[in-house]
Amino acid sequence: MKVGVLSGGGDAPGINAVIRAVVRKGIRNYGCEMTGIKDGWQGLVKGAFTPLTLETISGILPRGGSILGTSRTNPFKREGGPQKVLDNAKKNGIDAVVVIGGDDTLGVAAKMSELGLPCVGVPKTIDNDLGLTDYTFGFHTAVHIACEAIDRLHTTAEAHHRVMILEVMGRYTGWIALEAGIAGGADIILIPEEPFDIEEVCQNIKQRLERGKTFSLVVVAEGAKPRGANTIIYGTGSDEFGHPRLGGVGYYLGKEIEKCLDIETRVVVLGHLQRGGSPTAFDRVLATRYGIAAIDLVHKGRFGQMVALDGNKIVSVPLKDVAGKRKKVDLELYEISKVFSG
Ligand code: F6P
Repeated sequence: MKVGVLSGGGDAPGINAVIRAVVRKGIRNYGCEMTGIKDGWQGLVKGAFTPLTLETISGILPRGGSILGTSRTNPFKREGGPQKVLDNAKKNGIDAVVVIGGDDTLGVAAKMSELGLPCVGVPKTIDNDLGLTDYTFGFHTAVHIACEAIDRLHTTAEAHHRVMILEVMGRYTGWIALEAGIAGGADIILIPEEPFDIEEVCQNIKQRLERGKTFSLVVVAEGAKPRGANTIIYGTGSDEFGHPRLGGVGYYLGKEIEKCLDIETRVVVLGHLQRGGSPTAFDRVLATRYGIAAIDLVHKGRFGQMVALDGNKIVSVPLKDVAGKRKKVDLELYEISKVFSG
């Protein structure tokens, strides 16, 4: 059996750990021939492949990025795209594809499965917003990096008596902001799920000042928006899945806070530092478990499924039930964070 592997969408620490697990078990236990598909779905639209052998996966476990590359290509937005995917898979003798991706990439996998391409999905995104799995791999690493940033910002905020604002990723959900904010002891956490009131934010900081706290730490997800307003967008245009490029809410907040309070404010946009570099041990283990479970499903011929984490168990769920089911933050956790607010 020949198995293709692709990674699509924004990269997440742990993609290479998944690839390593899939390839190793595929070759050693199941005698599969493995092939890498370059740059997500683009590789199947264009017919771009790269060998995946025990040699090519050697040493990749701790590496960030993806040895296969990635892209936000949507075959359904390309002229004859889905047919090209099917033709290129057939021409190259690919019997099944392990698709590592988030909502967009796995949404394509669900549709391609229905069109006759046998796919198994692996849940990846630092945003952790994919439905039907407790955690996606890459999230733990992003939270760890954001938490370290908060710790570092705390000391300089305190020394200078400033408000420091940390803008983190999280387009539609505030998982990174919330978990990193709680772990780092942020004073205010703003998430896309709950539009914020700028006056309340300022009031919070004012209360802290009155209590003698001459600094404050605000963590804001890029997709958080002021009540009654739109999400703040950086530049124009959107990707092939219709997502605009977000960014700027941190600076918006900084200006508003300085307007209403007599306190210096600084803004840090953490950006792609959250996605780059080595995965944490937790993400390496999770990604490895996902990779093993994915190749097991392929071996059993159980296609149209995504591997998922349920509690501490790896399970499988139908790919078609995953797409479009955004997992919002745990509101109980959000309530906990409010105990430490202001
Ligand atoms: O993968 C999801 C994500 O990390 C979002 O949180 C963020 O808005 C987006 O990717 C940024 O993507 P890009 O790499 O295209 O700038």
